[in-house]
Amino acid sequence: MIRTRVASIVLEPLSKAVATATYSHAAFRHSSSTPASSHFLRRNFSSTGIRMSNTMKALVFAGKGQPALQDRPQPTILKSTDAIVKMVKTTICGTDLHILKGDVATCDTGQILGHEGVAVVQSVGGGVQQFKPGDKVIVSCITSCTSCEYCRKGMPSHCVDGGWILGNTIDGTQAEYVRIPHADGSLHPMVKGATADEQVMVSDVLPTGFECGVLNGKVSPGNSVAIVGAGPVGLGAMLTAQLYSPSKIIMIDLDANRLEMAKTMGATHGVVSTAGTDVVAAVKALTDGKGVDTVIEAVGVPATFELCQEIVALGGTIANLGVHGTKVDLHLENLWDRNITITTRLVDASTSPMLIKLVDAGKLKTAGLVTHTYKFSEMGQAYDTFGAAAKTNALKVIIDF
Ligand SMILES: NC(=O)c1ccc[n+]([C@@H]2O[C@H](COP(=O)([O-])OP(=O)(O)OC[C@H]3O[C@@H](n4cnc5c(N)ncnc54)[C@H](O)[C@@H]3O)[C@@H](O)[C@H]2O)c1
Ligand SMILES: [Zn+2]
Ligand SMILES: [Zn+2]
Repeated sequence: MIRTRVASIVLEPLSKAVATATYSHAAFRHSSSTPASSHFLRRNFSSTGIRMSNTMKALVFAGKGQPALQDRPQPTILKSTDAIVKMVKTTICGTDLHILKGDVATCDTGQILGHEGVAVVQSVGGGVQQFKPGDKVIVSCITSCTSCEYCRKGMPSHCVDGGWILGNTIDGTQAEYVRIPHADGSLHPMVKGATADEQVMVSDVLPTGFECGVLNGKVSPGNSVAIVGAGPVGLGAMLTAQLYSPSKIIMIDLDANRLEMAKTMGATHGVVSTAGTDVVAAVKALTDGKGVDTVIEAVGVPATFELCQEIVALGGTIANLGVHGTKVDLHLENLWDRNITITTRLVDASTSPMLIKLVDAGKLKTAGLVTHTYKFSEMGQAYDTFGAAAKTNALKVIIDF
């Protein structure tokens, strides 16, 4: 692949350099000198003035526990509905950490990671109607062809030629350039009323929290809500739950710091769920012994889904949004007569245009979700910081290109 895109006059030297330009996360982090490969990026032209290559830097899933900054060929338009975008900002998702642990079977080694960010359109295929070079865009974590059976049902998460593919089955947004299939259905114009950092939250965090948590959970005026998991996605649910004026938003997490941050963004209560705390009793005490009308599971482990079953009120809803890797018990022996609803969902990002309007109008404030900023060359550090969130107090880590 590299060979076909490199001018033949410099093919061999560059290919060798690319082949040796893979840095393990730790090696990259601890290297005090500039990696040799970066010279290829700065020196885009050889001394003879011949363009050497169209390479770019990319963060690659190089194997279990190995995010590696590598030189890769820049993507090109493969279909008329594609756009090539130049990334301006990206971020790291908990799902990227799942991939690095080897938990995501669909993501092969060698894939460029990332499914979030804002960018500038570099070029478009002949079939792209809504975007042109120079447009500033938000990249959706979900690719939508807009016309298949699932897209027409409002379920682009299961688009037959899209869904969650970026940074999963095709190269993602933690790279200088990205190919966006079905650009018309998968990009959104950026707006003027919010910073670029704030708009990165529209790629995944806000639509996931809103669609899988708030909409599925039927959050309503005056009702009580509990959100188990105060990570970025749980907080996205908390921010968007406020659109419906629930009377209480109770955040539950192991991390007291995250709960404090949640309170600054609108949570009414925080319950630290470390060993020894009776979380069920604490939630019941806050709800006149009834439990909550909506409980949103935003962690993805058996213990938290079981907790949801214990704190849901009569007639309430458990909206699961956590990604589960192991089986979980469903206590129908306790729940069969309680008139509850349980929902599951993969984010569709179909509400993103509406969420963007709210962000633009200042009615949905996402700035509090951004805790750290790095340059793209510091990607190794960014992964370290995000991966050790309990120690670093990281929520979303913004990476500037
Ligand atoms: N359904 C979807 O489409 C979709 C999309 C994106 C992310 N997700 C999933 O949403 C979940 C949340 O994502 P995130 O990025 O906020 O993750 P995160 O790992 O940053 O946050 C999870 C939070 O849960 C807390 N936690 C862990 N164990 C706990 C326990 N036993 N009790 C209480 N709290 C506990 C952690 O302290 C952390 O604050 C993940 O499972 C992620 O994969 C789902
Ligand atoms: Zn994500
Ligand atoms: Zn589709």
